[in-house]
Amino acid sequence: MTYSRITGTGSYLPEKVLTNHDLEKIMDTTDEWIRDRTGIAKRHIAAGDETTCDLAEIAAGLAMEAAGRTPRQVDLIVLATTTPDRVFPSTACLLQQRLDIHGTAAFDIQAVCTGFIYALAVADKFIRTGSARCALVVGAETLSRIVDWNDRSTSILFGDGAGAVVLEANDDENDPAGLMEVRLHAQGEHARRLWTEAPGSGHYPVRIDHQMIEERRHFPHMEGRFVFKHAVTRMPEVLLETLNAASLKLDDVDLFLFHQANLRINEYVANELGIPEEKRINNIERYGNCSAASIPMLLDEAIRSGRLVPGQIFSMTTFGSGFSWSGAVARL
Ligand code: ACO
Repeated sequence: MTYSRITGTGSYLPEKVLTNHDLEKIMDTTDEWIRDRTGIAKRHIAAGDETTCDLAEIAAGLAMEAAGRTPRQVDLIVLATTTPDRVFPSTACLLQQRLDIHGTAAFDIQAVCTGFIYALAVADKFIRTGSARCALVVGAETLSRIVDWNDRSTSILFGDGAGAVVLEANDDENDPAGLMEVRLHAQGEHARRLWTEAPGSGHYPVRIDHQMIEERRHFPHMEGRFVFKHAVTRMPEVLLETLNAASLKLDDVDLFLFHQANLRINEYVANELGIPEEKRINNIERYGNCSAASIPMLLDEAIRSGRLVPGQIFSMTTFGSGFSWSGAVARL
């Protein structure tokens, strides 16, 4: 039986930092409000000429270096993003060209904040079925390009960044490292509670109507409290479902990685399940919500800082627009 295992991770953040105090100067908000409600103190913002693919390329390079792999050994690229460089082709194809890789499958996954785990699940299935041996799985975002900097309720939440992992086939039955279980869910009936309506084919009749732009449909719309309530219900649910599928208990997990949308959501989930502080790691204070990039960035940080070491079990749990949510558990 072939399993997939993470053999290297990498992440990258753009240089420019936007603090809450910077935001105080451009909108009616305070550092105190943002910290209290979200746990965020600052976020990184891509430079004007920096794209999602630029961030992804650096994160992917670091992941391959950590795995001891060259681009030529990669036979699959799956990239999760909500902020692709272009409407088409996929950012995965642009990344493939940057890495000078030829002919392998390369495609994007769009599951917003849940995107990285969806991408990981797809790459895992390619590997388990023998269709790939060495996959590059990336989560990369430049959310600063799509937020409305006049909307204090959403713009303060997001940041830019990229994270990547190399996922490789593991045929050694005596080596327990690998992805144990993944669980993916979605509930499209709540799409409008957290969405960016345009551009898209839903606006075909008014696609070049300037009035539409004034209606702000191309900016994120979020019913924050509704989203919050669902996140704190679905995240513990899918975490337990994933552990149960892997015949694991909460105590068996060495480190819990939660999507970084709001520190209060993660603390609520952790308290609900009795997960102690020392088994959690967050970076939302420094990076904000980087959507599909949050989980791989957090994983890279956990590994590079020594919080997660080979042999340990870690879980990843996400919730986001769709609604979509997911859980994954793996041994490093
Ligand atoms: N600064 C100051 N005041 C603000 C700000 C701000 N930046 N933003 C909103 N307020 C005000 C509101 O206007 C409101 O004022 P009012 O009471 O006078 O009307 C008040 O603060 C409370 O606003 P709420 O939106 O009710 O605040 P809440 O406590 O719910 O926090 C938040 C908002 C942080 C967005 C929270 O609801 C949340 O985190 N929701 C979940 C987000 C999430 O998980 N998203 C999923 C991933 S994102 C993705 O998939 C793209």
